[in-house]
Amino acid sequence: MTGNEVRKKFLDFFASKGHTIVTSDSLVPKNDPTVLFTTAGMQQFKRQFLGNIDEYTRAASSQKCLRTDDLDEVGKTDFHHTFFEMLGNFSFGDYFKKDAIAWAWEFLTQEMNIPKEKLWVSVYKDDTEAEEIWLNEIGIGQDKLVRLGDKSNFWPANAKEKGPNGPCGPCSEIFYNYGVNKNCKSENCDPDCDCGRFSEVWNLVFTQFNRKEGGALEPLPNKNIDTGMGLERLVAVMQGKKNNYETDLFQPILDAIDRETNAHKDKYTLDFVDKCIVADHIRAIVFGINDGINPSNSGRGYVIKKLIIDATDKMVPLEETGVRLYKIVSVICNIMENHYPELKSQKKQDHISIMIMQIQNSYLTTRKERLPQLIQEINQIVDEESPNDEEIINLLGRLMFKYRDTFGLTESALKEALDKSGTGIQMDECIMGAHEVFNDLMKKQQNQSRASSKMTGDVFT
Ligand code: SER
Repeated sequence: MTGNEVRKKFLDFFASKGHTIVTSDSLVPKNDPTVLFTTAGMQQFKRQFLGNIDEYTRAASSQKCLRTDDLDEVGKTDFHHTFFEMLGNFSFGDYFKKDAIAWAWEFLTQEMNIPKEKLWVSVYKDDTEAEEIWLNEIGIGQDKLVRLGDKSNFWPANAKEKGPNGPCGPCSEIFYNYGVNKNCKSENCDPDCDCGRFSEVWNLVFTQFNRKEGGALEPLPNKNIDTGMGLERLVAVMQGKKNNYETDLFQPILDAIDRETNAHKDKYTLDFVDKCIVADHIRAIVFGINDGINPSNSGRGYVIKKLIIDATDKMVPLEETGVRLYKIVSVICNIMENHYPELKSQKKQDHISIMIMQIQNSYLTTRKERLPQLIQEINQIVDEESPNDEEIINLLGRLMFKYRDTFGLTESALKEALDKSGTGIQMDECIMGAHEVFNDLMKKQQNQSRASSKMTGDVFT
């Protein structure tokens, strides 16, 4: 089953259960300046969750999402992305736990034909109601059900203790079991283990409380359902792949990267992880620009610019041979245009490509100019006789911060300069101290820009 077919089957299934199919909101949430990006399907329904019901009480969508929290995981795990699509069904004071669980099970085991024995579930530790539905009505074995706590099975995570205020509730997750991972170090590997054996495909949130200042949980007059299933993860299950990047949503992008780079493989090849990172970032970039985010030095634009620069960094030796990131734009549009027809427009594709090209060219020029200069300055510091080791490290940290903050070189470019400096100083070893100075300065700068931004990042505040 193709990725496009899976998405369609999900929407058709919930339409058949009386849900209104709602188009994905933009990655830039409408009328909501408090959050950077749309990070979940429920975000466009905040009003309804707070009790303002319009024409429908059941909705379903495939929502474009962009999350920056998982940036460091991208490419390193089978399941993480910056940009992804979230399949969701929602009830605004209409059906609740029993139907939400029954329909999720029906969809996975009957529409998708996933063998029941491959699925495990979790429930919130105090949610006996959900547990009883799973055990007694669905008939899942006790051995495939785990109880998890506030971090994993409450949404927003840890909301009880830490907030934000607003609608929240326990959740129940459905996992696909890929089979024992031989490298797993846990004696009792279960869905709480992060060895990769279990892929969390669907999160069913039972939004039944309104968190008040101080942490009190008031029952909501209308109990709601908010579910979110990662399209990419479900497609991996359906296509018999463990890694999302091996599905038809990503493979053509990896193939295009290979095609572009094959002619130069004597000079440089990207390893699989780097290819996945580039494929992930370019999807986020295409959808970000498509939704009106122009790469820039602040806010949303900064995230898109950073993704372009990080992906460019991975491809630098290839860039020198003329292989460019923007050449992959049309491949992404091709995969996604079925559900996002605006991507068919050549004008749109050209606009996205030009934006990427401009940032890339400017970064590549900066890199070319600044890298030799940085190498020279590193050597000057290390060659000076007077400073002691501590001073050297301090000065290197400040120097790297200057090149990161003022000139915009990435951390991998800084590392490259250090490697090429011939001083023998390794970023990870001798420079740990300098790295600390650098990290401290970076943190201070991030806190300053956060303080001057009105975006809290919380869904409900
Ligand atoms: N809001 C929940 C999540 O993001 C379920 O959709 O996981």
